[in-house]
Amino acid sequence: MPSIVVIGAQWGDEGKARVVDYVAAGADIIVRYQGGNNAGHTVVVGEEEFKLHLVPAGILYAGKLCLIANGVYLDPKALLAEMHGLEKRGVDTRNLRVSDRAQVVMPYHLRLDELEEVRRGLSRLGTTKLGIGPTAADKYYRMGIRVSDLLEPDELAAKLELNLSFKNKVFNLVYGSEGFDYDALYSEYLSVGERLAPLVTDTSALLHQALQSGKRVLFEGAQGTLLDVDHGTYPYVTSSHPVSGGACLGAGLGPKEISMAVGVSKAYTTRVGEGPFPTELQDEIGNQIREKGREYGTTTGRPRRCGWLDLVALRYAIRVNGLDGLALTKLDVLDDLPVIKVCVGYRLGDQVIMDFPASLATLADCVPVYEELEGWCRPTSGARNENDLPPQARAYLDRIAKLAGAELVMVSVGPRRTETVFCRDLWVDLD
Ligand code: IMP
Repeated sequence: MPSIVVIGAQWGDEGKARVVDYVAAGADIIVRYQGGNNAGHTVVVGEEEFKLHLVPAGILYAGKLCLIANGVYLDPKALLAEMHGLEKRGVDTRNLRVSDRAQVVMPYHLRLDELEEVRRGLSRLGTTKLGIGPTAADKYYRMGIRVSDLLEPDELAAKLELNLSFKNKVFNLVYGSEGFDYDALYSEYLSVGERLAPLVTDTSALLHQALQSGKRVLFEGAQGTLLDVDHGTYPYVTSSHPVSGGACLGAGLGPKEISMAVGVSKAYTTRVGEGPFPTELQDEIGNQIREKGREYGTTTGRPRRCGWLDLVALRYAIRVNGLDGLALTKLDVLDDLPVIKVCVGYRLGDQVIMDFPASLATLADCVPVYEELEGWCRPTSGARNENDLPPQARAYLDRIAKLAGAELVMVSVGPRRTETVFCRDLWVDLD
């Protein structure tokens, strides 16, 4: 019953899909367990690029079972559109299943997300405006509509009535905006439920059985550790649990059923949205990294903020996820830089701190302490094993592994499946 969880060790966009795609080759089942279509996972297969938002990246391999588990915030219209887009490109989506317990993102969640960002003005969070925060709020406020409700007309009627009787007042009185029409929404979501019905199942039970019978399960994290609602840079976070522990909650399994946790980090750092970012580069090097790394949001197209690799943050991610190994992506983006810096500590007043602080005011005051490493100024995207890399690139990898205190299990030098310098077969380690 081996299982592996792959999570983002930074602020999301680490290139997880690249790693998931690699590990998925040896898996039987691939599971999304948190987040929603705020995620954007890009996978390149041959000459084709796929941008996935809700559907697990394993769908690109024929015959693998793909699950959207209970912890995902599911916009069913977005899912049906994504499936349609994949089918049109020849990808078979018949092996996709959706949890009956997943919370549904409704149109009023999208509008609330947008209106609340405007209301906050300069204190805005920089959300993707896809309704994630309001859907999560309803879940914990116990007002949410779950996938199973879409299949039961009376439940849907009662829950929609409860929601609109409250939310339409909020739209009118707080935001000065129009509310939603009950009849239109009810009939639309009843028919969405009918279209979704063939996919709906108890994914936790299905997974449990699969693990018992020895199947290999891959949990595909979305976003990243520093966007986790508990462990991230709150409130500039998403409203779910991208950390490895989120896989237990979000898929309905016990902790002993996760055999290995792998974190993904870029060879540098990026972040979208607001919030402090100690190693951010607001200069020509930052622009160079953004252009070479094509650092623009997959979901929103927003330019990503770019900076040096932050080992204080990475060590924190290794701890809160209990990582067994680290996959480093986009090493090739650093190819042209004569000097590469890594942040090894934070200077705070006359002290140097090594732990990632909880307070954002403290984090904003932290000045990175850098170690400078020699760049290699040669292309690495053709490298297929460690010996193909320039000595300076090998030294960079060794230094990161040492400073992070983690083993590198994979390094990528380009978006294609073949563009990896080395990768361990993680499944073999678990067999
Ligand atoms: P939300 O998830 O749309 O509520 O956005 C909250 C924060 O998480 C914002 O800073 C977003 O930019 C960030 N975020 C959400 N999803 C992703 C992602 O997949 N990659 C990177 N950042 C994300």
